[in-house]
Amino acid sequence: MIILGIETSCDETAAAIVKNGVEVLSSSVASSEEIHKKYGGIIPEKAAREQLKSIIPVIKETLLKANLSFPKGVFEIDAIAVTVGPGLIGSLLVGVETAKTLAWLWKKPIIPVNHLIAHFYGNFLNNKTMEQLSNETIFPAVCLIVSGGHTELVLMKDHGKFLWIGGTRDDAAGECFDKTARLLGLGYPGGPAISAKAAIANETMKQLSNETIKLPRPMINDDSFDFSFSGLKTAVLNRIKNTKLTNPLITNQLAFEIQEAIADVLVKKTLKAAEKFNVKSILIGGGVAANDRLREKLKLDTRCPSFGSGNSTRLIQPCSKPDPSAGRQMPDARLFVPDKKFCTDNAAMIASAAYFNYHPVPWQKIKADPGLEITQIA
Ligand code: KG4
Ligand code: ZN
Repeated sequence: MIILGIETSCDETAAAIVKNGVEVLSSSVASSEEIHKKYGGIIPEKAAREQLKSIIPVIKETLLKANLSFPKGVFEIDAIAVTVGPGLIGSLLVGVETAKTLAWLWKKPIIPVNHLIAHFYGNFLNNKTMEQLSNETIFPAVCLIVSGGHTELVLMKDHGKFLWIGGTRDDAAGECFDKTARLLGLGYPGGPAISAKAAIANETMKQLSNETIKLPRPMINDDSFDFSFSGLKTAVLNRIKNTKLTNPLITNQLAFEIQEAIADVLVKKTLKAAEKFNVKSILIGGGVAANDRLREKLKLDTRCPSFGSGNSTRLIQPCSKPDPSAGRQMPDARLFVPDKKFCTDNAAMIASAAYFNYHPVPWQKIKADPGLEITQIA
């Protein structure tokens, strides 16, 4: 089955063609990030206007890349999938109304997709290991979604069976990267900016041995699966209140510690959930899942090889022999790490989610829903 996915929930306009939920035939993304950079965050009206400019060219481009250009190639598309929420209303409307129009015009079924659930499906894209595994060997899985607007832990019992187990009580992990980067004058988006400075700090740490910066890891030992990142932002603010950030060594070390603190909390809670629910796999998704240090810490703490499509150390064997020296033993849990381009917003994950949760709806009933949540389907 060939699905055209359309994603316009925020500042990316994306379209993709995916075969059987796993094989990406083409994926195109246009971003208005450059426009928002000078404001230090996304301006919803500007994002919506850019969506409108980009939507048709992006869909055309992805059809062309997959050799399915209009009109002949369109016959080969079996269905259209579109993000209906959560997201910015102006942006969502562009994708939703375009998808509905195309579904009517081309007489294709249309599947509404929850953007958050779609992030899980980044793990299934172009991932040969995943393809070879049966559902029984993948599920139950614990999924960590970490993006600019969300930090959610979800137990995925099967395709279409989700149990939300925790989330952030205030700022999302990506938001914390973005806000602390702004405090440090590092620009937007904050995640990659912090990550780049943290890498420099790692190299030059010895030069700062007399001044080690330590930040809190909020709620790390708390019993729940919830998160809180606003305290971390305040701690950074307090740390720099009386300091002129003229010494790049301090900025870099702060960036390093911010990244460590966020990754430590995310990893600890994810592994706690994996243990409690005795899962067979750990999936990650969302823009922050592209963070190298988070990926590395997850790999180290599970002591498992990762099976991500974006990972060069892809192994076929699960981590069946736990390392006795490991602090934690996750004998049967596989860690999946999506290709970085499928962590940040894209439309291939939308098409994949629609394939594995195939519920077409008459186009007249499809509406953008900016506040859409993860519905409990257990
Ligand atoms: O999933 P996404 O592309 O859009 C939303 O749905 O929000 O996530 C965007 C977020 C931003 O907060 C950005 O700073 C963060 O993901 N991000 C990263 C990295 N790349 C993007 N955070 C940490 N490390 C990265 N490499
Ligand atoms: Zn997203």
